[in-house]
Amino acid sequence: DRLPALLRTMPKAELHIHIEGSLEPELIFKLAQRNGVALSYPSVEALRAAYAFTDLQSFLDIYYAGASVLLKEQDFFDMAWAYLEKAAAENVVHTEIFFDPQTHTARGVPMQTVILGLHHACQRAHQELGLSAKLILCFLRHLSEEDALATLEAALPWREYFIGVGLDSSERGHPPEKFARVFARAGELGLHRVAHAGEEGPPAYVTSALDVLKVERIDHGVRSVEDPALMDRLAAERMPLTVCPLSNLKLCGVKDLADHQLPQLLSHGLVAMLNSDDPAYFGGYLNANYLACFEAMPALGAKQAYMLARNSFEASFVSAAQRAQWQ
Ligand code: ADE
Ligand code: ZN
Repeated sequence: DRLPALLRTMPKAELHIHIEGSLEPELIFKLAQRNGVALSYPSVEALRAAYAFTDLQSFLDIYYAGASVLLKEQDFFDMAWAYLEKAAAENVVHTEIFFDPQTHTARGVPMQTVILGLHHACQRAHQELGLSAKLILCFLRHLSEEDALATLEAALPWREYFIGVGLDSSERGHPPEKFARVFARAGELGLHRVAHAGEEGPPAYVTSALDVLKVERIDHGVRSVEDPALMDRLAAERMPLTVCPLSNLKLCGVKDLADHQLPQLLSHGLVAMLNSDDPAYFGGYLNANYLACFEAMPALGAKQAYMLARNSFEASFVSAAQRAQWQ
């Protein structure tokens, strides 16, 4: 069976990866020591043992705690570089990386420290790994829209170092409408727009992300399957869904990967592709997501593998000319 080899070696893009979610326990402990930050876990093993999540919030609590060790530009560089090396080894040729500046600026870390550390890692990945890497600035939806607006303005001196904005963190109770003004402002600035919707929240959040935030992609979007009219719309508009199967499994969105919505999304003609979301927390990077899905879902074969890879490039924010080099 040559399918696993195909999945590992085919060139692909990753469009939904939170860089703070790539921070491995070993690096958390190394940075904690380097920066003199106290952790509430005695060892790498104890921290990893705490990675037993029941829902999105139970994960976010530990994810924000892990990010507290990031203080210096070098820390952000080291975190991103570790991810980029792994991505390149998995034949990811293009990646669009989310980062959560508010998680850091709220602790007194300057915006410049965050963006420059990440940017320099992306620059080096291009030079040394031949990997194209872009940044997407995400707003935390559990915070206010005023905070998001101030964050966007604070990032504008480094406007050329990120290609778009996203919306993440606790979905339920924080509908897209809450961020209408900041997404309109991002649109005026020529930034791409994406948002998490339909991960834990209802399909109506997917609809309002499209209509109110004017997003070009939906992150997750798996609960769209509950609304047949929405499914038809997503297919007709070729609106991409950045699906993260191991994330949905670990956050108990599905009981088993065999129950995952991916085959339904693909058979409905949606532009879906696979992503790792928070690989250090969910048990694997991009190829682990591919391998686990193709193992668990009998509807997936070589045809779907090529389709997923093709969708990852179609949904990316790179030019058609650039895409032609990879496909
Ligand atoms: N931040 C990091 N990972 C996330 C996810 N899966 N959903 C919402 N916010 C996140
Ligand atoms: Zn995510």
